[in-house]
Amino acid sequence: MNDVIKLDNFLFGGDYNPDQWLKSPEILKKDIEMFVEARVNVVSLGIFAWSAYEPVEGEFHFEWLKEIIDNLYNNGIYTVLATPSGARPKWLADKYPEVLRVNKDRRRIGFGMRHNHCHTSSVYREKVYIINRKLAETLGDHPGVILWHISNEYGGECYCDSCQKAFQNWLKDRYQTIDRLNDEWVTAFWSHTYNSFEQIEAPGTMELGEWAMNPLLLNWRRFVTFITKDFMKNEIKALRDAGNQKPATTNFMYDYDGLNYKKFSDIVDIVSWDNYSRWHKFEDIEVAYDTAFQHDLMRGIKHKPFMLMESCPTAVNWQSISKLRWPRLAETAGLQAVAHGSDTVMYFQMRQARAGMEKLHGALISSYGEKDDRIYEECVSLGKRLEGLGRCNSGQVPVQTAFVYDRENIWALEDSFGPRNKDMGIKSLTNKMYKGLRRANLNVEIVDMEDELTGYKLVVAPLAYLHRAGFADKVRKFVTAGGVFVTSYWFGIVDEDDKMHLGAVPHELTDVMGLRETEVDGLFDGMKYKILKAQGATDKLKEEYSFDMLCNLVEPTTAKTLMTYGSDFYAGTPAVLVNEFGEGKAYYLGAHAEDAFYEDLFDYIVEEAGLDRIIEEKLPYGVELSSRYLGDQEKVFLQNFTRNEIAIDTKVYNGTLKAYETVVCDKC
Ligand code: GAL
Repeated sequence: MNDVIKLDNFLFGGDYNPDQWLKSPEILKKDIEMFVEARVNVVSLGIFAWSAYEPVEGEFHFEWLKEIIDNLYNNGIYTVLATPSGARPKWLADKYPEVLRVNKDRRRIGFGMRHNHCHTSSVYREKVYIINRKLAETLGDHPGVILWHISNEYGGECYCDSCQKAFQNWLKDRYQTIDRLNDEWVTAFWSHTYNSFEQIEAPGTMELGEWAMNPLLLNWRRFVTFITKDFMKNEIKALRDAGNQKPATTNFMYDYDGLNYKKFSDIVDIVSWDNYSRWHKFEDIEVAYDTAFQHDLMRGIKHKPFMLMESCPTAVNWQSISKLRWPRLAETAGLQAVAHGSDTVMYFQMRQARAGMEKLHGALISSYGEKDDRIYEECVSLGKRLEGLGRCNSGQVPVQTAFVYDRENIWALEDSFGPRNKDMGIKSLTNKMYKGLRRANLNVEIVDMEDELTGYKLVVAPLAYLHRAGFADKVRKFVTAGGVFVTSYWFGIVDEDDKMHLGAVPHELTDVMGLRETEVDGLFDGMKYKILKAQGATDKLKEEYSFDMLCNLVEPTTAKTLMTYGSDFYAGTPAVLVNEFGEGKAYYLGAHAEDAFYEDLFDYIVEEAGLDRIIEEKLPYGVELSSRYLGDQEKVFLQNFTRNEIAIDTKVYNGTLKAYETVVCDKC
């Protein structure tokens, strides 16, 4: 399937917990029979099996696992083998309580749940190293094992003394001297000047210490990424020290804000993620665009095909309401991942748990355990469909458009006081602009400010408030060389330590944008203003659009006005502008506008810039369009994310799409 795993075909399967069924061999046997019928060719094993591997300290049992891996392999099913650090055994927590996390309120948690260990605890690191190494030595070379699944959904923070010390050391590395840190953080504000790195404490709760000092918050978040990655490196080292070189991944989460996943790109061999879309909670096509963005985000981490490691064929029981999926939605959701670059469709869970928190979670095989089950039948149908797609060979998604979504910038926006503490609308603007691009029939790659921009024709960077070092320069070069750049209000305001730039903003880019941002206005909830088309602006734009939340006032120098504000004391001043610079163009979108604005504007930009659309015809709302190479052929995916039939009349496909149906055709 993938250049990393070296299998040609798509992988279909998911998380399997045979360790919960060791006393029921007849069930394990039947599972395999049902997997084979569903064309399952991969399962993830051992994710939370530490107490089965090492029931008492130093006593290891992998024979049961070997038997299961053997049986699966003999039936054509590969194993993604997990390291078990996501949940520790009771004996370990009892004997070494320092492995347990200290929360933000500075209290150590008790044993329970999972994903709550300290990342700097030397005992925990040592115990994880030992179990990982033993696992690799015993089973790593098994021909059925194709990939390491390192831990599970890394996340969270620990505030123990050891983590505090590690934070101080990390800051020392970053700033070298305390004077430099004081200068960059402007700690003179409210008399927070530090005399030494040892005085610096991680953020606390409101009563417990510092919770509002922006550079501290931002750098703590950076440190948490660093220390989690460092913990993961220790896990991988154990496998490599055992002489095992099989590729490794770790499963990322939906828009997870606690880590900057981009920083993991050099230690994971392939990106994988867990998708639990809230189908039917909102209009499904909106959920589909939101999910599509996440798939593109994951593909953008390494700019390569990725794995859908977990998803659910039906109800997800930890969501507030466990809504059943409509027929065919499981298939279409799975194929959506494939369309966006996934080489796998994998589920949590393969067999419904017997007890515990996940006993009501959807699964490929339910507790009923027979084949005449609606969800199982849907899975069989998807398995066959994936098999029918043939060789995927890690086909790329062809893209000319990049969307800048930078975690460090998002952190700074979220922690900022003003211009809208209630909701900065990051998600809302992201969704609107992404959807506008997709409705213009474009594939999109999500990048961050560390990525190169050369090679794209269109770069969209909404709410790029904090510029990472070198980003302004990349934008300048991109536009100079003929690229089309689109940004929004609140652009280029602060530096990497969240310190205001002095002088005209957008910092270092006023000439590229042909304007100066003067003031930003936060609108109260319920306030709806208008932007109005300027004289001579393109016919593709309507006479007016509404906006809310935020807008930026600007003073143009060379930029041409496309729309002006229609409300408040700034009525008549420029709201949407375009500037010709070098060989390219830079657009400034001053307000958080209604969806139609982005759809119309991108349609215009794509035509004007001569970008390749996946297909030329505009599709009815409700159909998601994407394309991807499978082998040497670019395939077009048309997916109906509604409960109605939709008629399609295009060169690649002419016919009807049933509710939640996907058709895959050759691009002509
Ligand atoms: C994931 C987790 C799985 C399982 C699943 C349930 O976040 O990795 O272990 O708990 O959620 O939806």
